[in-house]
Amino acid sequence: MKFKKNILCIGAGYVGGPTMAVIAAKCPQYKVTVVDINEKRIREWESENLPIYEPGLDDIVKMARGRNLFFSKEIEKGINEADIIFVSVNTPTKTFGQGAGRAADLQYWERTARQILANSDSGKIIVEKSTLPVRTAEAMEKILNLNQEKIGFEVVSNPEFLSEGTAVKDLEKPDRVLIGSRETEAGIKARKEIVEVYANWVPRERIIESNVWSAELSKLTANAFLAQRISSINSISALCEKTEADIDEVAYAVGTDSRIGNKFLKASVGFGGSCFKKDILNLVYICQNYGLYEVADYWESVVKINEWQEGRFVRNMLAGMFNTVAGKKITVFGFAFKANTGDIRESPAIYVTRGLLEERAMVVISDPKALENAKKDLEDVKEGVSFEKDPYRAAEGSHAIAILTEWDIYRDLDYERILQSMATPAFIFDGRNILDHKKLFKIGFNVFAIGKSPLKHF
Ligand SMILES: NC(=O)c1ccc[n+]([C@@H]2O[C@H](COP(=O)([O-])OP(=O)(O)OC[C@H]3O[C@@H](n4cnc5c(N)ncnc54)[C@H](O)[C@@H]3O)[C@@H](O)[C@H]2O)c1
Repeated sequence: MKFKKNILCIGAGYVGGPTMAVIAAKCPQYKVTVVDINEKRIREWESENLPIYEPGLDDIVKMARGRNLFFSKEIEKGINEADIIFVSVNTPTKTFGQGAGRAADLQYWERTARQILANSDSGKIIVEKSTLPVRTAEAMEKILNLNQEKIGFEVVSNPEFLSEGTAVKDLEKPDRVLIGSRETEAGIKARKEIVEVYANWVPRERIIESNVWSAELSKLTANAFLAQRISSINSISALCEKTEADIDEVAYAVGTDSRIGNKFLKASVGFGGSCFKKDILNLVYICQNYGLYEVADYWESVVKINEWQEGRFVRNMLAGMFNTVAGKKITVFGFAFKANTGDIRESPAIYVTRGLLEERAMVVISDPKALENAKKDLEDVKEGVSFEKDPYRAAEGSHAIAILTEWDIYRDLDYERILQSMATPAFIFDGRNILDHKKLFKIGFNVFAIGKSPLKHF
């Protein structure tokens, strides 16, 4: 079959895989190929067991795969054949040298730019899909324009706003798609080509066009605002615990103000995921580079509050359980950083588990989708940790349960049965405020929730 255009995506991760699957499903006229240096990942995308879990993803991949969606190890060939290249490689926080711990590590990004340059015989549109520091497009242009043959490359920024756990839904019905380009004739032409791709299923008024720097900065800003709301409500949760105010009641009252809105106001053990912390620290680093120290400090505090909230959760567990958890069995319900994903990157559960292990607790981890990733993350731990998918078996004989991911299954468990199998006094620390605390207290649990007075039998 003759396709209208060849789209390539470099990077078959949490963003590249689902994004390209949806583009392929919605645009049968385009050939979409996804490549990655990680050959195992490519094999998994070609198999029955996809490398990531997202509701609805299996169906959409199966529908388009082999028709106009292909996964491949042949990066160079893919580059050469492509008209449009989405770059969706990882951009982690730098761990070395200048800006270590804050700046984005752009080595994968730059390697990709050079690889595109080395393998292109014709002009292409390069789409920044990864989240990047503002003005990265400029660096990419400089590398691409090193070509002797004067091949025309246009760099467009199209940051991804999907949220893990609802990626397919977010991609099929996005709040908006943002496409930024240079405001030259060639830049605007390239921008329109990307608009044309999305216009196959996204209403035109939801496709926002902007200059390339605005698009780059909007993604960092959106993540900073989202994380800021969580840190804001979490900071107030600490005050609620001191004053007998209830954080859910406060959040409801505050969120009904239409200027504020009720989303992202759920207090919790803290935010996780691969993006929020990394992107805010990146924003902080950029601000510092421009000498905007007050702005940098303002945003850095969002990350600091989050770390404090995670630490506070462990300290509250310790204080609640008579200042010692040594030798006690503690069951962690949920290791994923949020529900409906197997992703554990920067999950508060990592911090809490390690904190409990330091206190010599025996931690049992349960999660419906993230156990394999949890095992890998805790590989260095010699003793004190075990894994059990079944929540009832995981809780047997334990002194406490900590709810760290808001999986629906944890709402609906038979907690009377669980209580019968636990040591006494039995504790529940609800790090997501998803359980019926009064009911749990009534059946015999000592209940500690975020931003609420503890319910204790002693
Ligand atoms: N995960 C999210 O929810 C999310 C949401 C929006 C934006 N983002 C951004 O999207 C980008 C990708 O995130 P992700 O979660 O998909 O990361 P990921 O680590 O899951 O995937 C990145 C993939 O890129 C591959 N890769 C790296 N260098 C490569 C190269 N030179 N050639 C080919 N493949 C290469 C890696 O092997 C990996 O499979 C990041 O910048 C992230 O900030 C992520």
